[in-house]
Amino acid sequence: MALNTTNPTKTAAWKKLEVHFSEMQNASMKELFQLDDDRANKLHLQWNDFLIDYSKNIITPETMQLLTELATELGLQNAINDYFDGAIINQTENRAVLHTALRADESAVVTVDGTNVIPEIHEVKRKMEQFSNQVTSGERKGFTGKPFTDIVNIGIGGSDLGPAMAVEALQYYKNHLKIHFVSNVDGDHVNEIIKKLDPETTLFVIVSKTFTTQETLTNSETIKKWFLRTAKQQDVAKHFVAVSTNIEKVTNFGINPDNVFPMRDWVGGRFSLWSAVGLSISLAVGFDNFNGLLKGANKMDKHFKESPFDKNMPVILALLSVWYNNFFDAESEALIPYTQYLQKLAPYLQQGTMESNGKSVGRDGKTVNYQTGTIIWGEPGTNAQHAFFQLIHQGTKLIPADFIGYVTPLYGNQDHHDKLMSNFFAQTEALMQGKSEEQVQAEFDQQKLCVDEAKFLLPFKVFEGNKPTNTILIQKLTPESLGSLIALYEHKIFVQGVIWNIFSFDQWGVELGKQLANSILEEISTKTVKKHDSSTAFLLNHFLNCKNK
Ligand code: F6P
Repeated sequence: MALNTTNPTKTAAWKKLEVHFSEMQNASMKELFQLDDDRANKLHLQWNDFLIDYSKNIITPETMQLLTELATELGLQNAINDYFDGAIINQTENRAVLHTALRADESAVVTVDGTNVIPEIHEVKRKMEQFSNQVTSGERKGFTGKPFTDIVNIGIGGSDLGPAMAVEALQYYKNHLKIHFVSNVDGDHVNEIIKKLDPETTLFVIVSKTFTTQETLTNSETIKKWFLRTAKQQDVAKHFVAVSTNIEKVTNFGINPDNVFPMRDWVGGRFSLWSAVGLSISLAVGFDNFNGLLKGANKMDKHFKESPFDKNMPVILALLSVWYNNFFDAESEALIPYTQYLQKLAPYLQQGTMESNGKSVGRDGKTVNYQTGTIIWGEPGTNAQHAFFQLIHQGTKLIPADFIGYVTPLYGNQDHHDKLMSNFFAQTEALMQGKSEEQVQAEFDQQKLCVDEAKFLLPFKVFEGNKPTNTILIQKLTPESLGSLIALYEHKIFVQGVIWNIFSFDQWGVELGKQLANSILEEISTKTVKKHDSSTAFLLNHFLNCKNK
């Protein structure tokens, strides 16, 4: 079944939200907390070892009621069922969207074109397990008989960001293998990686759903040439494996068909780390931990599928985001994990969120007359506090932020962890409470600051406050909790796409640049600049004139 095509602004719930917004736009969270001692109790969710406190938002229970009405009116429950059941919801590519099937139990039945895809998924998983075990144990060896020490994941976008993020996040659980990621077509990137490697002990995992991506193919060819300086053509089969849907192109590259880990077109690149695309994760942390990641995601899938909207973590996060994006006109959202391990979460979710929901045409084919995809950005705290927090606290823009923290530190360094977490709690409190003129003046009085200086400084030291945050507090960073966290954001993206009436699972917007780059490459190679706007022509001529100088 196709998703419905209702323009959300035409619903009754949206009209009610507009009226409600006019009452809420100047509401003070501080006052809302003062009026209701039980606010945090009412506006939080607890599930497994996740706690989400969303009480520090410019909302009342009525806001949430109206937002859930909006979701209901737009047929969210049917959409969720279609998503999990393998309906063709990626209509512009005529595909199902089934990353959830990749982490489903072996007993589940998910049908695509009349075939249950679960047995095939588990067959690939078993192949990944066997391969990972052979590499990590040293049973599988390189062309001179040495065990592998280094793994290079060659891929870009979804074929890089997910594995790179998860390998970084799960560093604590890592084995002896050194994992490298080559993504950019920038030759300096691949050269910087190559110089650290020994061809005798390096295994290359080429990851490309299509096996047509310029960056990945160029990097793979460069690496193969470098490898063949030491090894022979027949050794390629021992050192190169591939993850792809395009088996023909993979075998043409010289990869042994036994070393191909297949994936299907119903797995979107940015949602693919659960598939064989996660091979470098499995190699880095072992298959059991990779499976833990899948289990955690599966638990979140069940929570999302089965919980009523008002108790549903992905739904609540998505609705709050719609509230700020479409009513408060907030343009971006910050993601601040208080753990260095989640350093790559923001870049990963930038693709997830912005490639999915950066759309301006509705499912009805009409240009939308409201805002869609938010801009996602962020860095781990406390580093972020010393970088861009000034703007969130005292700038002119409203930036809702998700704070993600863990109760238990992995190495048990409680002194550091208590300091880290005191910052975590302090920041959301400061962002909400702000600091009034009276409070600043009281501090000045205590410091016995002279009247003129106090008068001058006062406006600069006031914090307006009322900055919304969600606090996501998780027991411990484990493969399982990471899986649940990623799935939480995946489903948030899905819910937003349903509400905004857009197709979240295609990415036509990346094509134009690729096409133009191909024709410009031809012009650069032949040193003939064709017809362009005067800026592009001027730049190309400058580049060609200065090249090789
Ligand atoms: O940037 C466009 C895109 O198609 C992404 O959606 C995808 O993750 C990436 O390129 C890589 O594609 P592939 O895995 O086919 O090489």
